Amino acid sequence: MKSNIVKDILADITKILNPHIPRAPREAQLLLMNFLKVDELWLLTNQNIEIQNTQELYKMTERRSKNEPLEYITNSVSFYSEEFYIANGALIPRPETEILIDEVIKNIPKKNTKLTIAEVGVGSGIISIMLALKFPNAKIIAVDISQDAIEIAKINIKKFGLQERIELRLGSLLEPIDESIDYLVSNPPYIEYGAKLESNLDYEPQNALFGGEIGDEIIKELLDEVLNRKIKFFSCEIGYDQKDRIALYLKDTKIKSLKFYKDLANFDRGFTLRL
Ligand SMILES: C[S@@+](CC[C@H](N)C(=O)[O-])C[C@H]1O[C@@H](n2cnc3c(N)ncnc32)[C@H](O)[C@@H]1O
Repeated sequence: MKSNIVKDILADITKILNPHIPRAPREAQLLLMNFLKVDELWLLTNQNIEIQNTQELYKMTERRSKNEPLEYITNSVSFYSEEFYIANGALIPRPETEILIDEVIKNIPKKNTKLTIAEVGVGSGIISIMLALKFPNAKIIAVDISQDAIEIAKINIKKFGLQERIELRLGSLLEPIDESIDYLVSNPPYIEYGAKLESNLDYEPQNALFGGEIGDEIIKELLDEVLNRKIKFFSCEIGYDQKDRIALYLKDTKIKSLKFYKDLANFDRGFTLRL
């Protein structure tokens, strides 16, 4: 019979994970901590305690052994030092998107400025939520084409008590927004159709990843909207190889500035356009 002692269960689920994923011992700890709703210290100091009803833990381990991202199994992801709810209807926030938020912060020097920010592709809500926390007088309108993503964002917006400040709208691009926008921000899908991706990305919503035949189609549609509506600021995340095409697209347009930024691995990762 299997032992129900914490340290034995840990060893057992590590063994299940080991052939399939790197860092199996650490991931086994994370799964167990999430299952028991305990922290690191508890785990360290309760290695010889007996626990019951571990079927769900083994189900979680099975999912992880098939390379499903840990975040979808634990329904939790940390981003910009905050914990967010996540489930497989929305993209798992990536660390590089923190730089996009820093870009917006850099461009709005006064924290108390009253302004309307629009986000296209809200996903789990991380960008709109962080901006609402940074700018207490900002009104935010956040759009997504996916009802699943909107539901996940709703949970996070409620978690941070921001229901009065962030309005979610279902629809495509800026179509659901008639109001005047001071700042547009987006981390749109920007991968080209057919690109070969790592297998864990199979679990993420495909319409959060793929932007078109070339990849930058949605970014260009957003640029058209910015130019037509004369939105003063637009900060956007891009693929590492899209900088030149975006600069070329804006070549003969009337803009104040176009500044690209890099991620921590030194790849081009986004831009801010000023009209
Ligand atoms: C790369 S994810 C970004 C999610 C989140 N903002 C983040 O940074 O983690 C892109 C999001 O855009 C949404 N999306 C795709 N096409 C869209 C469109 N035409 N209009 C609005 N949202 C769209 C997807 O559903 C997805 O939630």
